[in-house]
Amino acid sequence: MAWLSVFVASGKFPGKSIRVFDLFCGPGKDSDGRKGSPILILESLQTFAHQLRQGRHSVDVYFNDSEAEKVDDLKDNIVEAQLGAGPYELHFDNKDFFEVFEALYPQMQGSANLLLLDQHGFRFFSPDVFKRIRKLPFTDTLVFMSSSYVMRFKEQPEINRYLETHKIFVGKTPYHHVHRAILGYYRSLVGTDEQYFLAPFSFESGSNIYGVIFGSGNHLGLHKFLETAWRMDKLTGEANYDIDREGITPDQGMFFGMEKPKKIQLFEEEFEKDLLTAHLPDTGAIYDYVLQQGFLMKHAAPVLRRLKKAGQIDGNITGIEYSSLKLPEPIKVIRK
Ligand SMILES: C[S@@+](CC[C@H](N)C(=O)[O-])C[C@H]1O[C@@H](n2cnc3c(N)ncnc32)[C@H](O)[C@@H]1O
Repeated sequence: MAWLSVFVASGKFPGKSIRVFDLFCGPGKDSDGRKGSPILILESLQTFAHQLRQGRHSVDVYFNDSEAEKVDDLKDNIVEAQLGAGPYELHFDNKDFFEVFEALYPQMQGSANLLLLDQHGFRFFSPDVFKRIRKLPFTDTLVFMSSSYVMRFKEQPEINRYLETHKIFVGKTPYHHVHRAILGYYRSLVGTDEQYFLAPFSFESGSNIYGVIFGSGNHLGLHKFLETAWRMDKLTGEANYDIDREGITPDQGMFFGMEKPKKIQLFEEEFEKDLLTAHLPDTGAIYDYVLQQGFLMKHAAPVLRRLKKAGQIDGNITGIEYSSLKLPEPIKVIRK
């Protein structure tokens, strides 16, 4: 819910309504008593109660699960967790996803939304649903996929009815890159004239790989997601396992010499090339580029400092951030 802190704390949208849609909500806890997404969402909203009231934000939370029994259990679990009352209105449904998405879609138009699709499998995040989500302003989306399942059964008509697997697995996709490949497919569905960002995170669990796809039309949403992702994975910012099979231990001097992860090395090389060929003429373009590559400014800063020290670029390279998009400062390439 990092987006909420930014959105509410910015104070830029007083009175704007907020809606959270958890459309595969489950009963709120698993068989071991671990908290599920509905409880985590409500707990998080409770911590913002003061700012939400101060900013006059109304908050509506929609929970849906196709199994009525799970929705009933959720209601009980919310009461048990003392989350029944808070800075929000609760709404419950027990419909099939496509039906509830259709019914709630008009309500997603005017508010700031968080859409959580912890789907069972893969089939609900269809190209059509994705297209409609991209049309929603102020909407951050988190989709969970059973990624390795898609790969394992890619030839099955059942899967191909929903996803064009021949477009996902072009060439030979290593098993541990399966979620990257799936994200690449969704990225290919975004039109060149659209501003829409996607970022992946892969989870290994037993022999399976699951993945989260984050989507947002806003740089700040992407920025917050990437901050969390890089906190969880200091090597690549995108997995809870060694996704590039490099065998580097995150805490042992990885930023020295050979120990730098390949992904970071490649980023630095490309970034330097694009800077020196004047493809990134100002701080706004740099900020946009760095995030779109799945990195943070802290990864770009060493390159900027080195090039400035070497007299290859000139300009104010400190404090490049979200506001640089609106107030860009020129970064000049010095030709010698
Ligand atoms: C992975 S679980 C969700 C877990 C939950 N987000 C949590 O954190 O505890 C997926 C849920 O989707 C529900 N489900 C399966 N098919 C569905 C459908 N067609 N429409 C809506 N919900 C569905 C299942 O009943 C199940 O509770």
